[in-house]
Amino acid sequence: MYFTEVKQKFIKIYGGEEKDIRLFSAPGRVNLMGEHTDYNGGYVFPAALTMRTVIAARKTDSKTINLAATDLPDRVSLDIENLCCYKDLWWGNYQAGVAHIMQLEGFDISGCDLLYDDSVPHGAGLSSSAAIEVATAFMLETFSNEKRGIDNKDIDLVRLAKISQRAEIEYAGVNCGIMDQFSSALGKKGHAIFLDCRDLSYEYVPISLDNKRIVIANTNKKRSLQTSKYNERRAECDIALKQLKSVLPDKAFLGEITVEEFLQYKKVLTNNTISKRAEHVIYETDRVVKSVAALKSGDMSTFGKLMNKSHNSLRDLYEVTGTELDTLVEEARKMEGVIGSRMTGAGFGGCTVSIVENDVVDEFIKTVGEAYKSRIGYEADFYISEIGDGAKELR
Ligand code: GLA
Repeated sequence: MYFTEVKQKFIKIYGGEEKDIRLFSAPGRVNLMGEHTDYNGGYVFPAALTMRTVIAARKTDSKTINLAATDLPDRVSLDIENLCCYKDLWWGNYQAGVAHIMQLEGFDISGCDLLYDDSVPHGAGLSSSAAIEVATAFMLETFSNEKRGIDNKDIDLVRLAKISQRAEIEYAGVNCGIMDQFSSALGKKGHAIFLDCRDLSYEYVPISLDNKRIVIANTNKKRSLQTSKYNERRAECDIALKQLKSVLPDKAFLGEITVEEFLQYKKVLTNNTISKRAEHVIYETDRVVKSVAALKSGDMSTFGKLMNKSHNSLRDLYEVTGTELDTLVEEARKMEGVIGSRMTGAGFGGCTVSIVENDVVDEFIKTVGEAYKSRIGYEADFYISEIGDGAKELR
């Protein structure tokens, strides 16, 4: 039903027949543990969502990529011989960025008509941009392979994640880590990904929640300074690493430093702010390892406590939460049946993730929602999330 609807909308915009339209998709993500550790070579533990970007696509013989979206009036045309030049588009720049980087990496970029249908809320810290990038990259590689007679079974999803990250950094100007694009490309239904960001080795960990649910709460806060603050935190981590390397010369990343080493050598960090940032990253990486172990042994209560500690560290040491996220977490933690609650993603607004007993989920949404509205002045949104698959062609 959904597939037919999207194809019908496509035909309304571009004409043609249903049989020539193909569907590609890639999801948003929720990170369960390990925030601001990816660009520090630490561990992360994200899961792909069932909320996703779907692209209805048709290859053409033209030299343009035409873009439209089901929720926007805008239409954009990209000249495939000039893909470098669309950085200033307010919508369409992620697609242009991916196509541009893929062209630089030797893919044969085709003209095509595309309609985007997104169910990942925009700007909410659930990686709506990674979903667009990865779905676009998957579709463009499929078309490129078909032109060249290469089997699409061999699509290298790790490479697609790296291309998408490169587009976000070099084209969209956000100096992000690999977590979002990696989860979107390689997500697996019912599993979270235990990812080592140093070398991208990973393990799928089954998430069996029994009588519990993952509830995401969206602050709906506008996140205007997010990019500059994100880049500022990265720079602070670089300073911390440089100073710690004076006593630990073999460490290439903050995420490689153990808690014991940090306790022994933290005195070389002269500035309190820099020391707090490093402390967060090093303990947060350790919390990922502990969280994976807790979930593997079915110890939800330990996992919940680690979630709470993670949020407190992001609030007090890394300082990326803010009143809205803290309010959602405080209100969540007041309730019986909430196992743990923390912010997820970059912070400065965006979403929290909570593990909630099934039978209190409705009450959770009502109580936390009302308290949030009365303290902050506007509504939060709630999503009961399922863990879905990564990028693929839908057939
Ligand atoms: C954003 C970035 C990720 C990661 C998180 C914080 O989502 O895109 O690479 O750094 O913030 O964990």
